[in-house]
Amino acid sequence: MHRTDLSPDPLTQFALWFRAADDAGLHPRAMTLATATPDGIPSARMVLLKDYDAHGFTFFTNYESQKGRELAQNPHAALVFYWLPQDRQIRITGTIAKLTQAESDEYFQTRPRGSQIATWVSQQGTVVENRAILEARYEEFVAQFGDDPIVRPRYWGGYRLTPHALEFWQAGEHRLHDRFRYTRQGEEWLLERLAP
Ligand SMILES: Cc1cc2nc3c(=O)[nH]c(=O)nc-3n(C[C@H](O)[C@H](O)[C@H](O)COP(=O)(O)O)c2cc1C
Repeated sequence: MHRTDLSPDPLTQFALWFRAADDAGLHPRAMTLATATPDGIPSARMVLLKDYDAHGFTFFTNYESQKGRELAQNPHAALVFYWLPQDRQIRITGTIAKLTQAESDEYFQTRPRGSQIATWVSQQGTVVENRAILEARYEEFVAQFGDDPIVRPRYWGGYRLTPHALEFWQAGEHRLHDRFRYTRQGEEWLLERLAP
């Protein structure tokens, strides 16, 4: 892989690799999201990429979850994608902010009714005695909403990560992998090769 194989714009490059993963029948939206407490204790979990564009990478979750509480106090976060069979990794670091209420409402309304109800049922990350409690709560909400449209709970919504740096890693022969990092420099992106 050579520098000339890469777009000068990391979002264009991301789109190329994302589409290649999609075309290979992978589940390219699954990504690791790492957050940290203000004193630097990390936590990581998978979430689903909803969208990406020049403004950043969006995903949806519970604002009162561990990740939500960490992001409220420390907006610095990282994303990691790994795609086989291409054997490619993309690492992204940046800062995260909530989407607008209107953006979250818009996406919530496109979700299947069962998923909408589940956001009311689950206080993500709290201790639950058993599964039956969750199922009973689900049925209670089904009865409560009846045929009414389901409104988005205020504690559920989207975030956008605005990238400061993106690294594209491609497995190579003899473990001489290719790594290229884009770093934001105002309106421009600095592109550098890194040692594997
Ligand atoms: C492939 C995959 C995709 C997931 N996507 C999401 C998601 O988009 N949003 C979400 O809140 N949790 C998602 N989860 C569940 C999270 O990994 C995690 O269990 C949950 O968000 C609670 O994380 P927290 O307690 O660290 O905040 C996903 C899990 C997997 C395995």
